[in-house]
Amino acid sequence: MNVIDIHSHFFPKDWPSLAERFGGDDWPWLRHDSEGSAMLMRGDQEFRPIYSACWDGNKRLEEMDRDGVEKQIISATPILFGYERPVDQALYCAQLFNDAAREICQVDSQRLFSLAQVPLQDLDASCKEASRAKATGHVGIQIGNHVGLKNMDDDTVLGFLEHCANEDIPIFVHPWDMMASERTKDYMMGWTVGMPAETQLSIVSMILGGGFDRVSPKLKICFAHGGGSFAFLLGRLENAWHHRDIARGKSKYPPSHYLNRFFLDTAVFDHDSLELLVKKMGTDRLMFGTDYPFPLGEQKMGHLIKTAPSLSEQNKQKLLASNAESFFQLTT
Ligand code: CO
Repeated sequence: MNVIDIHSHFFPKDWPSLAERFGGDDWPWLRHDSEGSAMLMRGDQEFRPIYSACWDGNKRLEEMDRDGVEKQIISATPILFGYERPVDQALYCAQLFNDAAREICQVDSQRLFSLAQVPLQDLDASCKEASRAKATGHVGIQIGNHVGLKNMDDDTVLGFLEHCANEDIPIFVHPWDMMASERTKDYMMGWTVGMPAETQLSIVSMILGGGFDRVSPKLKICFAHGGGSFAFLLGRLENAWHHRDIARGKSKYPPSHYLNRFFLDTAVFDHDSLELLVKKMGTDRLMFGTDYPFPLGEQKMGHLIKTAPSLSEQNKQKLLASNAESFFQLTT
């Protein structure tokens, strides 16, 4: 069975010191602790242990072979985005990590593909970098799900999405900079609670902010982690839309009307959750994603879909590969 993982992450093995270049004490860098393992640092704080699959394309291919993954799309980790920094610094980071991603993919350009990042706080700079990224071989752009206090219905974000719709550049939306950080700092609740809430907020703000009404229907957009809490709470959203005028926002139609305007990945780790996504979204708008090579990713890549009790072989193939092939226009 053909298998394409659209949600996996990379870090370059090394990069020039951003703290030395720009000043400040909270830039990301890698502390290599032993052969093949490193600690991602933010300033002097330990952020996350990672291993060589992040930067070594051959290690990645070895683990893809182990689990029967034919192709992977790699993207940066949101800590590298720099949306909160001056635009020249975020653009420098974008170009640095975008070029590094292309380099990792060169190990096998038929199996490894990449998404680029952009300085989303600036419309002009992000459009230019997106076009440059497409020209240098990236198959799409990954954006964070908000820029500071601006949600997905912000004019700058929508302007960028329109640019990508017109240039036929697919978008992958990843949660980051999670809400309520003071109350979710223990037990990784920022990841298990905050991230799904962030993604739900993004889809809801796109719908109720009139984002899908304003942006071209040509836009190809996919949200991470099965859309977070969105599918489970769609009924609540729909009920509010029908019974309180202030809950309708700027959307022309009820929320469920817009389900055919976006895609979700399948990183939900549970058959019942996957079944709900299939019921709500159908089988043409879901794409296999793992969050590899992180501990919170799918450890046996592809297992969830391959063993899904209620999916036909044909639908499994759609979720595992064919939807992604057409979304990202991957040549086979
Ligand atoms: Co991820």
